[in-house]
Amino acid sequence: MSKFRLPTLTRRAFLASSAAAAAGAMMPLHSPSPAQAAPLREVTLRAAPGRVRLLPAADAETPAWSYNGSVPGPEIRVKQGERLRITVENGLAEETTVHWHGVRVPNAMDGVPYLTQPPIDAGKSFVYEYDAVDAGTFWYHPHQRSFEQVGRGLYGPLIIEEPEPIRVDRDVTWVLGDWRLTKSAEISDDFGNMHDAMHGGRIGNTVTINGHVPDAFAVRRGERIRLRLINAANARIFGLDFADHKPIIAALDGQPVEPHAPDGGLVVLGPAMRADVILDMTAASGSRVSVTDRFYEGLEYRLVDLAYADTPLRDKMPDWPVVLPPNPLREPDMTAAIRHEVTFNGGMMGTMVMQEMGGSMGKGSSGGMGGGMMGNMGMMMDMMHTGGIWFINGVAAEGHVMKPMLTLERDRAHVIAMTNATAWHHPIHLHGHSFRVLSRNGQPTRYREWQDTVLMAPREKVEIAFVADNPGDWMIHCHILEHQAAGMMGVFRVA
Ligand code: C2O
Ligand code: CU
Repeated sequence: MSKFRLPTLTRRAFLASSAAAAAGAMMPLHSPSPAQAAPLREVTLRAAPGRVRLLPAADAETPAWSYNGSVPGPEIRVKQGERLRITVENGLAEETTVHWHGVRVPNAMDGVPYLTQPPIDAGKSFVYEYDAVDAGTFWYHPHQRSFEQVGRGLYGPLIIEEPEPIRVDRDVTWVLGDWRLTKSAEISDDFGNMHDAMHGGRIGNTVTINGHVPDAFAVRRGERIRLRLINAANARIFGLDFADHKPIIAALDGQPVEPHAPDGGLVVLGPAMRADVILDMTAASGSRVSVTDRFYEGLEYRLVDLAYADTPLRDKMPDWPVVLPPNPLREPDMTAAIRHEVTFNGGMMGTMVMQEMGGSMGKGSSGGMGGGMMGNMGMMMDMMHTGGIWFINGVAAEGHVMKPMLTLERDRAHVIAMTNATAWHHPIHLHGHSFRVLSRNGQPTRYREWQDTVLMAPREKVEIAFVADNPGDWMIHCHILEHQAAGMMGVFRVA
């Protein structure tokens, strides 16, 4: 199978680009002055090959790549306001970095190879240090060849607790993984193939919770669980159905949201997205209730059973408050916001969707397809015919160092109007910031949720807004890692 082109930038290119970056980009966000330094939490993560047990004991172990020998890597758990110092050792045979997904870190700590740091060579290490500014559910993963490094098991949860968490009986993290395993339980090595890149990415055949194919999760009637869901899959989108339970979403991508029941009862998570779900265990003692993933029509499967103990924890369900305290995010002033347009193109059937949507996007000065992109249309069509590849505003990334596609004036409010002119879903992630999701297809969202990764349906238009308060060059990309590697990635500059 043909491979798509992989980033090949040299260290020299990195040094040149970082020299060009503003010195201001090194300023930490909300950093305490040394005199009042926050408590420091030190962690070491070692990325290395090893064997892990994904499947039940009767099956073989799986050679994987992991942090500290486990998949997922260790749960890093700190309190909001603490400072983290994480030494990452590279025991792989290739370069790596670690990105702290969703955490608003200073640019130099963001873990983007060549753009914010030189990659960590095999056998070398790098120290990341930053403040835990927001409480919430986050995660970490490499940003170098992530389609393979994440796909082989390099990821882990990062939980930042509120100073006074809401009351629950249990705080539980489920890291959802998705693996493409061979019959002998090995990871299929067809990473970077063109078919995955052009379609929905590397969807696997084995879903794990916290690194194991789950059978049952023990609960008790009357129990309240704060379930922190993290989608660490390369490409799989989850739509979790908790049967007769009534999940309440209390946070999305780590950020508190007005507590609400998800649409249609389904908790939908694109790759990289998180949800904090308040789950009251309301079924009968001794019963077993399946949690089903229904995202892909016709491909529903039982994820895990909630196995109720024979005796209840309590008879009456708790009525404790579920509203989480807000994080220190700046509210974008919409009356003064600057508007930008971003259009995603490409992939299988991409030319069809472009032609279909072209009429509506080309019109008006603020249409999704600006002059520059129209000029690129011929080239894009050619590339899309010869091989599936993805574009943001007409440009397909070939590495992490790029001319910024947007320059956002620092400390101003910005609206980014995004158009998914493709036939596929894309979870679009911005680094360094959380944003409000304002509207979908022109309809205001009900909760104006803060997210760092927004799932866009095929042909959907989504508007997001945020204050660009974190200086530096940041990535914007699709978190289907095969799409990212095949071009669906860009840089925006906050200056
Ligand atoms: Cu979770 Cu740029 O990534
Ligand atoms: Cu995508």
